[in-house]
Amino acid sequence: MKIAVLPGDGIGPEIMEQAIKTVQAVANKYNHELSYEYGLTGATAIERVGEPYPEVTHRLCMESDAVLFGAIGDPKYDNNPKATVRPEQGLLAMRKQLGLYANIRPVQTFESLLHKSPLRRELVEGADFVAIRELTGGIYFGDKGRRDNGNTAFDTCTYTRTEVERILKLGYEFAQKRRRKLTVVDKANVLESSRLWRETAQEMAKKYPDVTTEYMFVDNAAMQIIQWPKNFDVMVTENMFGDILTDEASVITGSLGLLPSASIGIHTSVFEPIHGSYPQAAGKNIANPVATILSAAMMFEYAFNMPEEGALIRDAVAASMAAGIATVDIAADKPSSTSQVGDWIAEYIAMK
Ligand code: IPM
Ligand code: MN
Repeated sequence: MKIAVLPGDGIGPEIMEQAIKTVQAVANKYNHELSYEYGLTGATAIERVGEPYPEVTHRLCMESDAVLFGAIGDPKYDNNPKATVRPEQGLLAMRKQLGLYANIRPVQTFESLLHKSPLRRELVEGADFVAIRELTGGIYFGDKGRRDNGNTAFDTCTYTRTEVERILKLGYEFAQKRRRKLTVVDKANVLESSRLWRETAQEMAKKYPDVTTEYMFVDNAAMQIIQWPKNFDVMVTENMFGDILTDEASVITGSLGLLPSASIGIHTSVFEPIHGSYPQAAGKNIANPVATILSAAMMFEYAFNMPEEGALIRDAVAASMAAGIATVDIAADKPSSTSQVGDWIAEYIAMK
């Protein structure tokens, strides 16, 4: 098995190092032969070779069995609206070129962390849902530009029936393996593209009578996620709504540093934490590596079809938190460093 490792910017390299430690501990235990090849992306790639997703990196991803991705982004570009190349374009290009039309973000709580959630314990305890975000269509990829001498700007949200069908199909398949409820989130009371989503979902729902299909407007969904998170099982939505709702969903677990994701589609799948590059913490050995480590667990499950290996990583992560081995975002009183958390988890796996 060959893994393309793209650490990216900010805290990317240091959290990735912990994920690789973990992956290698699992490989040693199960006698899997894994190889790692590193590639450039993001601001780091812009600085070194002038573009955020270089062709060599793309080729590396294409010929690998999975991609582990850290984070990208650099404040230098955020505050400069005139920048012509941006790190984020690298991520979007990678998603597009690898055909990663589905981003899967499981939202789960950890018993030992319930007190860190901004929501009351009884609301979040047992919350467990999967948000599936469409990742290569919609307003992030539609026609955009300026007219009127630059004084008018536009971004367009476009979806084809085929794009909507393939992501809904995935949603239904997830729901069938879980609690059999699918919530389709849109803004069909206003947007034509959302009406296509809803129309398509209504047709498909007939083919999945074992799944309850629920329709929800995105503004209402934003509220329901924090009011009744336990009511969700599988949620499917378009690109931008999913971007926003999954950030919102991530905080109910107590820390943004915990949530992993898998992006799957036509070519090699990519596994990445949902948080960003957290530049203020870069190089300080304080960032939480857990989301990246859990992304590696998803890699074993989704890309390698090795559920036992994935489960072992989850078990090790839960054990580390129960033992109070956690970074400052979680264990403010007695924090461990990024590398200490990685070492502990890798050690746990070796000993188990
Ligand atoms: C994410 C990120 C990206 C997105 C950015 C960095 C382009 O926020 O993965 O959610 O919006 O898709
Ligand atoms: Mn986002």
